[in-house]
Amino acid sequence: MAATTSIHGMWSSRLAFILAATGSAVGLGNIWRFPYTAGEYGGGAFVLVYLICVAAIGIPIMMAEIMLGRRGRQSPINTMLALARQEGRTEAWQLLGWLGIVCGFLILSFYSVIAGWTMAYVVRAAAGVFHGADAAVIAAAFDGFVADPERLLAWHTIFMVMVVLVVARGVASGLERAVRFLMPALFVLLVALVGYAMTTDHFAAGLSFLFRPDFSKLSGEGILSAMGQAFFSLSLGMGAIMIYGSYLNSQASIARNTVIIAGLDTLVALLAGLAIFPIVFAQGLAPEQGTGLVFKVLPIAFGQMPGGQLFGTVFFLLLVFAAWTSAISLLEPMVAWLVENLSLGRVRASVLAGMTVWLLGVACLLSLNVWSEITVFGLGFLALFDFLTANILLPLGGLLIAVFAGWVLSRAASVDEFAMGEGLGYRLWRLLIRFVAPIAVAIVFLHAIQVF
Ligand code: TRP
Repeated sequence: MAATTSIHGMWSSRLAFILAATGSAVGLGNIWRFPYTAGEYGGGAFVLVYLICVAAIGIPIMMAEIMLGRRGRQSPINTMLALARQEGRTEAWQLLGWLGIVCGFLILSFYSVIAGWTMAYVVRAAAGVFHGADAAVIAAAFDGFVADPERLLAWHTIFMVMVVLVVARGVASGLERAVRFLMPALFVLLVALVGYAMTTDHFAAGLSFLFRPDFSKLSGEGILSAMGQAFFSLSLGMGAIMIYGSYLNSQASIARNTVIIAGLDTLVALLAGLAIFPIVFAQGLAPEQGTGLVFKVLPIAFGQMPGGQLFGTVFFLLLVFAAWTSAISLLEPMVAWLVENLSLGRVRASVLAGMTVWLLGVACLLSLNVWSEITVFGLGFLALFDFLTANILLPLGGLLIAVFAGWVLSRAASVDEFAMGEGLGYRLWRLLIRFVAPIAVAIVFLHAIQVF
């Protein structure tokens, strides 16, 4: 008999789960990472591949992760171990959980640094420093900021403390209320920003950059990055959604919830793109600015629009919250494992995991300035962790999840857990998870190998 509750707590309702999982999915990945990678890889064709990946790979894998998590009801490592034993398969499947833990450490270490940038920009927006500043001044201010390790360290530290505080208290308690109000608010502000972008008379240029595919611009690496962005943005491949699924009650419909979460996440990313690129073109800037794109572009708008000081402050503040609710989900799998296996209390486990991530984050922030000479494959630590996790480790994790859910777990088990019958919906999922998702990931990997 499968467990019906988790020792780490449960969501209070179906809505609480949707809010938490959407809180995990919507974050810097949508508003910082999506625009800069889309800009880097030429726009339209990248976006199209990204959307296909969300629909054909992301949604079935998210369903699989929630399903496995809810069946195992433990940290991803122990869930995989328990399910593999149940099916009489090798215990090596727990390595999938370990891969996720490593991935979580790496992602959170740079995620926290970028979240720190966002916090600094709340203060800057509030102080009115963007007022009337032109693109060159704003870009120079950003470059100066990133070159200062002390400021980056301070913000990174504050953010990690915030993450540890919530995770130490248990994610089911505080998260729900925060997400319920802040996510809709972020959404409204994004729509307003798109409205502003429409007035720049370069809206059409932004629109065609994002939605008119030019396949000549799409390299193997571009396809890999579009797939990686889909995994990153949906929080897939490392067990974050798996552990959130383990706190979900047994009655909730996994398929419906997944479609809602993935739909909201994609909508937010597209809105961010629609807000940013018209301003990029109106200012005569290049879309391929790298990681600083959003921080160099949005402040220009806040500096020019009426009420921009307040608007910019609230926008960056909401972005901090969005990053916070995502970061929490990156730390939760390892904390759950520490609690289960080392019988540490939640507080100690959170502090221990948080300190390790913090240390790794210091390497990331130093790679932007004093350690800029140290590179691996031509990338500094931050860029390396970003590329390695999103484009390689998450899709690899997703591939293994798909193989496990589609081929190792018995058909009866997945039918039972989804509880949606064996009609068209289920058969479509099974087709996608057994064939489409693993083969697509494998092909994209093979195609991208030519890059290296
Ligand atoms: N999806 C989040 C974002 O877009 C980041 C994130 C949270 C994540 N949990 C994750 C990414 C797990 C990969 C795996 O900002």
